[in-house]
Amino acid sequence: MTRPEGTPPAATGPTREPATGAASGAASGTASARPRPAAPAGLAELERRAAARRGRPEYGHDALISCDRLVRVFSTDGVEVQALQGLDLLVAEGELMALVGASGSGKSTLMNILAGQDVPTAGAAKVAGRDLLTMDAKARLGYRRDVVGFVWQQTTRNLLPYLTALQNVTLPMQLRGGRRRAERTKAAGELLSMLSLDHCRDRRPHQLSGGEQQRTAIAVALANTPSVLLADEPTGELDSHTAEQVFGAFRTANAELGTTIVIVTHDQAVADEVRRTVAIRDGRTSSEVLRRTERDAATGQESLVAREYAMLDRAGRLQLPAEYTRSLGMAHRVLLELESDHIGVWPDHTADGAARTRGEGGGDGVSGGGSGGGDARGDGDGGGAGPVSGAGPVSGAGPVSGAAGEPGAG
Ligand SMILES: Nc1ncnc2c1ncn2[C@@H]1O[C@H](COP(=O)(O)OP(=O)(O)OP(=O)(O)O)[C@@H](O)[C@H]1O
Ligand SMILES: [Mg+2]
Repeated sequence: MTRPEGTPPAATGPTREPATGAASGAASGTASARPRPAAPAGLAELERRAAARRGRPEYGHDALISCDRLVRVFSTDGVEVQALQGLDLLVAEGELMALVGASGSGKSTLMNILAGQDVPTAGAAKVAGRDLLTMDAKARLGYRRDVVGFVWQQTTRNLLPYLTALQNVTLPMQLRGGRRRAERTKAAGELLSMLSLDHCRDRRPHQLSGGEQQRTAIAVALANTPSVLLADEPTGELDSHTAEQVFGAFRTANAELGTTIVIVTHDQAVADEVRRTVAIRDGRTSSEVLRRTERDAATGQESLVAREYAMLDRAGRLQLPAEYTRSLGMAHRVLLELESDHIGVWPDHTADGAARTRGEGGGDGVSGGGSGGGDARGDGDGGGAGPVSGAGPVSGAGPVSGAAGEPGAG
């Protein structure tokens, strides 16, 4: 079985190599039982490792949207707010997915960065091959015009009030240039038709319903055939029936034009309609729900099955759902065991662990990353080594969520 680089094997047999990094000291038992440290790697070995690293595909290399440990810190009046705290997210080309999360969790901050309207403080963000951190002003303008389309929550913010629906859609085409007026009108008319808005062509926004305005806004956002369509609470001001129609327009755009779509929503009905819903908590992606159609072998009947997965970040950190850790009294430190097809996670029942659970323990720097107990801000810096398991930054789904190789987990 292969294991990620830097991750020591869970087995503690005598043949085991010493773990690398900080984990090794805490992991081993007494000094006499400790294996002798390996000789320093020779130059050839270092070169071999460097070559292997070079040959490995970059994180998110095949994703259309890739956010790698994205950080955004706002400073106002000397007070810092960490809106994004190392967020990882990959979105494949052609996906239609939803982002959910409590108010203030960082959803709009992320959307504004992806829209090219804001620049992250640290980390990496790429959309359709464009690097969102290093783009200059001119490239940023081109990015906003050609690569992404955006739909805001406020219906009035999406459309110019003195232009008709058709003129609103032709405007971005005109700003981009390159197409004759007749071509622009034809293309805009086709977009409006695709979204069942023929009857709205020559009306101004105030003559449209809220749902029609949002659907027109989608047509405007699609005017220059962007790779990505971003929408921040596009149905937030609409009743559920109208919201469903607007969501239908996103679905049409995704199916007919192949546009990759990311929708921020509080609307559970919308979140339930997509194949993948990613939850953000405290500026990080924390879990995701994948839905797929399953056919009953006996009856042949198809049904949609939803499964929730925890996110494993690149450092190996995992956020366990608060209700799981609470119900098993897990806090500060857990025991991990590597099995052939999953990782077991157990509460720490040592005397010390029990004392810590009662709140008496002092911090010794060995708590595991992301206890998930509702406080992601307080989590450690990578999975610390438990004295028993000897594991480095190993985390895993264990009994609480899907094991590795779960169908649909990719
Ligand atoms: N321009 C800004 N200056 C200072 N702080 C900001 C700024 N924009 C956002 N924040 C802070 O960053 C955090 C994340 O805000 P964000 O708007 O991304 O949340 P959200 O998930 O979109 O919330 P909601 O669901 O309410 O729209 C919040 O604490 C917010 O107060
Ligand atoms: Mg928001």
